[in-house]
Amino acid sequence: MDSMGTLRRTHSCNDLNTSNIGEEIILMGWVLRRRDHGGVIFIDLRDRHGLTQIVFNPETNAEVHAKAHQLRSEWVLAVRGTVAARLDGMANEKLATGEIEILAGELMILNASATPPFPLDEETDVSENLRLQYRYMDLRRPEMARNLILRHKASQAIRNYLNDKDFLEIETPMLTRSTPEGARDYLVPSRVNAGKFYALPQSPQLFKQLLMMAGMDRYYQIVKCFRDEDLRADRQPEFTQIDMELAFVDEEQVIEVNEGMIQNLFQATLGLDVAPPFNRITYHEAMNRFGTDRPDVRFGFELCDLTEIASNCSFKVFRATADTGGTVRAINAKGCATFSRKELDGLTDYVAQFGAKGLAWVKMKADGEWQSPIAKFFSDEERAAMNLALDADEGDLLFFGSDKPSVVFQALGELRVELARRLGLLKPDTFNFVWVTDFPLVEYDEREKRFQALHHPFTAPREEDLELLATDPASVLSRAYDLVLNGTEIGGGSIRIHQKEIQDQVLAILGISPEEADNKFGFLLRALELGAPPHGGLAFGLDRLMMIIAGRDSIRDVIAFPKTQKASCPLTEAPAAVARKQLTELYLRPDWK
Ligand code: AMO
Ligand code: AMP
Repeated sequence: MDSMGTLRRTHSCNDLNTSNIGEEIILMGWVLRRRDHGGVIFIDLRDRHGLTQIVFNPETNAEVHAKAHQLRSEWVLAVRGTVAARLDGMANEKLATGEIEILAGELMILNASATPPFPLDEETDVSENLRLQYRYMDLRRPEMARNLILRHKASQAIRNYLNDKDFLEIETPMLTRSTPEGARDYLVPSRVNAGKFYALPQSPQLFKQLLMMAGMDRYYQIVKCFRDEDLRADRQPEFTQIDMELAFVDEEQVIEVNEGMIQNLFQATLGLDVAPPFNRITYHEAMNRFGTDRPDVRFGFELCDLTEIASNCSFKVFRATADTGGTVRAINAKGCATFSRKELDGLTDYVAQFGAKGLAWVKMKADGEWQSPIAKFFSDEERAAMNLALDADEGDLLFFGSDKPSVVFQALGELRVELARRLGLLKPDTFNFVWVTDFPLVEYDEREKRFQALHHPFTAPREEDLELLATDPASVLSRAYDLVLNGTEIGGGSIRIHQKEIQDQVLAILGISPEEADNKFGFLLRALELGAPPHGGLAFGLDRLMMIIAGRDSIRDVIAFPKTQKASCPLTEAPAAVARKQLTELYLRPDWK
């Protein structure tokens, strides 16, 4: 193997074009593929910027040509050569360097490579586990490199924008105390404080509030957060937030700054103007129309409340639901009456995973007639009223859910997205933003038999609802806002409580005793008594934003070294066992089973 000798790169593998013809240049990179064409050898040389074709001709340089013979995929080369136009008809329009090639004069083999664990030059079906195990190879693929480059551009755009708006970038601790965001903590045992633990932050929530109390006025951080929760395509145990907090603001100001930031971000990454202001919808309306607080508004299929019309029908299921305070709702899948029995059964199974006990359907025939297993249970008037409410025409397919509201909302909310997926309506290049506002402050947790904060315990109640805190906490709305993009919650935040009495009151509603509050976040409560300004903020999930911007289905594709669904890393094999000595040093018992 050679080291680089005196050779130094003059260009990247994406730089050269017809304006460079005749120049002597030096490129370094990896062999994507080698082709032998009747004596002449072609190498596609790759770096993160692009590809350049290198030509080794036995007639002009036999020695270098002979050396090129041994080259294999992923060998690392330095090539000195001359830029030449490709022969007529050999240009490749898809490549920035497609009109030129390099006539090699000198070749240094900087390193060989064993046979790659999977081919890098084609979209093959490689298991994600193998890709993660050899992530450094996976990241050599242009589509993966592109995601990291996009992510870098995004971070830069965010920093530039916030710096211009007079924000300070301030770091907050990673070894800290539990932050109440509702997930399990990752704990770190302390060696010098026997039996005590740090928690990795679920978010910098308390510190950013303290920074406002410290007079920092506007803070941001692109920061790692840690949550030990069940993983999904859009959830990682460690993920990155664009976190910010502002003093002396109301929700309009927070929203305005953030709409500007998102606009900037899309401009910098995709060259697209997403044109704020974004639509807003209240939590109540989002649930009623879409069955969820993160509505995908790229398509219709909205939920329609039929409880009243169904309250006297002879279909027992609907009637019983209406009689017991449940809800009967339906969506109209326009033009879908051609769905087969098998597809309908499939969708029934699909909603069953969300707790739906069935999925009644109706195929619309001419003159408002129904073809449906449940048609016989409804009078002409009832059918006509439902048709009208659902705007149902011949050829439409209606789906009904009947149960307690939470089940119907979730089942039909998921069904509308699944229908849209099957019908190809989830266009990745359409970006529909919506702010969801007016969330309830708290919701009752049936299992725990107490109220839980919908956002976190530091979110302010609406001023006009303060009186209700004492009398009817369940009906209090909060000053929280979420930003939803194409059905994914990309960010959320709120105006915070800055008055000690109100914070005490909210903690009491949440069943947190003064002793427990003092123990867990007494430091914040004390700061509230020492001149806390009104403040509020927001955090975006950077990984989720990048997933959508890059048009991917999983946040793992926009993270350099992500974890699997089981929170492990196939590359480093973390988490791993540790030496007994380390455990005892940390006062942990090594006899764990
Ligand atoms: P929240 O808990 O809503 O708010 O988190 C903010 C955003 O972070 C993203 N996110 C995640 N992304 C990937 N993997 C995860 N496990 C994960 N969990 C959350 C989401 C979410 O919208 N402190 C508050 C913010 C505030 O009030 O200012 C907070 O953390 O996109
Ligand atoms: P059954 O009378 O149980 O055969 O149900 C008749 C139709 O109603 C079937 O298509 C069921 O899937 C549907 N169904 C049953 N229970 C519910 C429910 N809770 N919500 C919506 N549809 C239901």
